[in-house]
Amino acid sequence: MKPGNFRSIGCSESGVFDVGWKLTWEKKSVIATSLIALLSLFVLVVNYSEKPYFLLQPMLGHSLSSPWMLFRQNHKVYKPHVGYISIPKQEPLKLHCDVCSVVSSSGQMLGQGAGLDIDHSSCIWRMNSAPTRGFERDVGRRTTLRMVSHTSVPLLLQRPQHFFGQANDTVYVVWGPLRNMRQDGKGIVYNMLRQAAENFPQARIFVTTEERMNYCDKVFKKETGKDRIQSGSYLSTGWFTLILAMDMCKEIHVYGMINDTYCKTEGYRKVPYHYYEAGSRDECAEYLLHESAPYGGHRFITEKAVFAKWAKTHNIKFFNPEWQLS
Ligand SMILES: *[C@@H]1O[C@H](CO)[C@@H](O)[C@H](O)[C@H]1NC(C)=O
Ligand SMILES: *[C@@H]1O[C@H](CO)[C@@H](O)[C@H](O)[C@H]1NC(C)=O
Repeated sequence: MKPGNFRSIGCSESGVFDVGWKLTWEKKSVIATSLIALLSLFVLVVNYSEKPYFLLQPMLGHSLSSPWMLFRQNHKVYKPHVGYISIPKQEPLKLHCDVCSVVSSSGQMLGQGAGLDIDHSSCIWRMNSAPTRGFERDVGRRTTLRMVSHTSVPLLLQRPQHFFGQANDTVYVVWGPLRNMRQDGKGIVYNMLRQAAENFPQARIFVTTEERMNYCDKVFKKETGKDRIQSGSYLSTGWFTLILAMDMCKEIHVYGMINDTYCKTEGYRKVPYHYYEAGSRDECAEYLLHESAPYGGHRFITEKAVFAKWAKTHNIKFFNPEWQLS
């Protein structure tokens, strides 16, 4: 049982006592039985609710010295994220962050000098094989978590010692379709990861479960009205990153992500698609190509419109370029 449940039971026990001492034994037992029933229901709701903290948070103090604060932090640290399991032990991902800096791989990162700001946040998230070395001033040095596309796993494995040896405090979360991620020996990417986990036992490698992949598709359909598969598109690593970040971070600071109208804006800044690929196709050209591809494209622009919507109900802020969210 989670500590939260002990607490709710603790509160109610004193409640039963306070109400009960003036009443007859029969009334007491009726009240006690109903209270126990109500409590069990509450415990069930807390246990099975998608976001138990939102239920609990208003009751908890904000002062750092308060014991509830400590309890709350512990509670959060140990909240398992069940859609992500470790290789090879199949354990759920347990990580909680206060402020997450999500560093985009976009050329927008270049020349903004955001490195120090990024390194000051509690968790720093990057995508795929985006490097820090040589770009520290703009992208920072630290990496807490990398969200990695199945297609980028071979890139990580070109430098296994760098990614899985030296960076053994980084959490790797790999997303991919079942055909590549299946665990019956036929999933080519899963097999690569299993080998890496064997070679680097300290590495913290997680994969997205099939259920979680389906959930991410469902979110796309709910937000856009379009079926991801029928519309011939793939979700981007940014999509999976924000879905996990909303689950794990109290506050999200996204760096270097453009909004959905940026590429239609007069005189926008032309930058490479990736900050680490100088001379590659311009970001907006790449985005427009993907947006209109009949199949196999990422709907980057559509996704950005959805992110703007999420930012209204979640604590998400966008920097460099800044998004004006009302
Ligand atoms: C873990 O990373 C640290 C820092 O890069 C390194 O010194 C250490 O050797 C690594 N441990 C293993 C087992 O690779
Ligand atoms: C989107 O980006 C463009 C270009 O930076 C900017 O002019 C516009 O105000 C932004 N819109 C929002 C909603 O942030």
